[in-house]
Amino acid sequence: MAQFHCRWRNVFVCVCTPCICLLLMLVFLTAMVCMSMNGAGAPGTNVQETPSHSVAPNDLRKKSFIPHAKTFWLAQDEGAFWNQLQLAIERYFNPILRPNDFRKRMENSNFNESLLMESFIELMDSDSMRKNFDKLSWQMQKFVSHMQKRDYPAIIQPDGVCGAGAKDEKEPPLLLLAIKTTEHNYKNRMAIRQTWGKEGWVSGHKNSSGGRESGGYVRRVFLLGREDPEEEDVSLSELLQMESEHYGDILQWDFTDTFFNLTLKDVLFWSWFSGSCNQTVFVFKGDDDVFVNTPNIITYLQDQLNKSQANDTIADFMVGDVIDSAIPHRVNNSKYFIPDSFYRGLYPTYAGGGGVVYSGLLAKRLHEISKSVHLFPIDDVYVGMCMIRLNTHPIHHPAFLTFDFPEKEKKELCSYHKILLVHKRTPKQMVRLWADLKRTQRPCWDVPLRNAVKK
Ligand SMILES: *[C@@H]1O[C@H](CO)[C@@H](O)[C@H](O)[C@H]1NC(C)=O
Ligand SMILES: *[C@@H]1O[C@H](CO)[C@@H](O)[C@H](O)[C@H]1NC(C)=O
Ligand SMILES: *[C@@H]1O[C@H](CO)[C@@H](O)[C@H](O)[C@H]1NC(C)=O
Ligand SMILES: *[C@@H]1O[C@H](CO)[C@@H](O)[C@H](O)[C@H]1NC(C)=O
Ligand SMILES: *[C@@H]1O[C@H](CO)[C@@H](O)[C@H](O)[C@H]1NC(C)=O
Ligand SMILES: *[C@@H]1O[C@H](CO)[C@@H](O)[C@H](O)[C@H]1NC(C)=O
Repeated sequence: MAQFHCRWRNVFVCVCTPCICLLLMLVFLTAMVCMSMNGAGAPGTNVQETPSHSVAPNDLRKKSFIPHAKTFWLAQDEGAFWNQLQLAIERYFNPILRPNDFRKRMENSNFNESLLMESFIELMDSDSMRKNFDKLSWQMQKFVSHMQKRDYPAIIQPDGVCGAGAKDEKEPPLLLLAIKTTEHNYKNRMAIRQTWGKEGWVSGHKNSSGGRESGGYVRRVFLLGREDPEEEDVSLSELLQMESEHYGDILQWDFTDTFFNLTLKDVLFWSWFSGSCNQTVFVFKGDDDVFVNTPNIITYLQDQLNKSQANDTIADFMVGDVIDSAIPHRVNNSKYFIPDSFYRGLYPTYAGGGGVVYSGLLAKRLHEISKSVHLFPIDDVYVGMCMIRLNTHPIHHPAFLTFDFPEKEKKELCSYHKILLVHKRTPKQMVRLWADLKRTQRPCWDVPLRNAVKK
């Protein structure tokens, strides 16, 4: 009787186990297919954590609003030039469709470049895309016809390894100031060198109850392209050469310094940084017409490092004036104008390019991931596009005033003590504001950083 029972149990096990296994496999396969059809798999992107973007209420009222998908991924619309180009790359790197050598492919940079080139040539061969190209403005056409090239050589480089710094640094630099400028803006560079961009040891902000003595070494580098060859001024480039010999803070590449070429300053900077700034903890990247409260930045960054979870979060760290779900400018008299034949969908979350701070570790990750993201003509949006592919996003801080103070706040005695950055200020104003900061140090000791509700 017992044997009989046992045999039946064996039959039961033999028949049902494969059935259950098959069923489970079916469920698994269905889930995989659904996920890959959604196109959710992206280089370095965790499927569950892909952030979705909601549309700000006031954006809905705008006439230029176009229907879009819930996530940046689904906005990879067919038809628009850039989206189409990038889609080929996303398909290639999709870790779900092609899981085996995903890591290897991601890390093989030469291959990524040829892949970018292939997808470009393929697209330019199609009739509809060529018609599309013909309709673009001449600036945009100029951008498109050079968007495959990013290996511009450096003409001038700092002699110190990672920009100008103190000779006797006793610890690795805490912060590298990387400032976008042009050959013409000599006055801005001079004002920055004398004020918020001084290299060497910078003490953090200290309040009346003592707080703690903190500080860090600061380095500085200016990022430039060349003036348009047709208007090139020989004396200007000679001056820049002299400036470099004197200050050692010039990093100039051999491309034309135009608005649509600004993205090159990001990718070339990341490349240079990865090779020359091994130990620098943080990077500030911003314009040469902003005023930065460097001591406040130092204190803010020290506080970040002192958080208990700092070691886990630092590789993702980026802070600035964060813009979410922005709509591309669709009016052709704006310098930000992007026609929808070029890019369709919302922009990803990004930090305004006037001034943003991120970790050195993140800079190196951006350098790697940018090799599989086609250049985009708006530089800060491009950084956002790379960030989303690293499955991370910048954090917003209201002390980054890339749209200046609200009118009332500007006149307060301590307003500049409450900020990390404000746009925009002339060289003369920078010098005066820097002196004011020192002069009002005592009465403004205890003001905390600005923490208002966003716009
Ligand atoms: C002074 O700074 C310390 C450390 O940053 C902070 O904890 C403290 O609250 C500050 N004191 C005042 C009066 O703002
Ligand atoms: C960017 O720089 C390159 C190299 O100088 C130049 O050929 C190209 O026209 C520039 N692109 C734009 C959009 O100005
Ligand atoms: C960076 O610095 C670390 C520690 O000093 C060293 O081990 C590593 O080889 C350096 N990397 C490069 C690329 O120089
Ligand atoms: C880090 O924070 C703790 C308190 O949270 C403080 O006692 C310590 O002095 C801080 N260390 C540094 C290096 O700022
Ligand atoms: C982070 O890691 C470093 C070395 O790996 C260690 O010295 C430091 O104490 C860690 N910091 C925190 C906040 O855990
Ligand atoms: C800008 O748009 C207007 C109206 O749509 C059009 O007439 C004009 O030709 C456009 N200009 C350029 C430079 O594309």
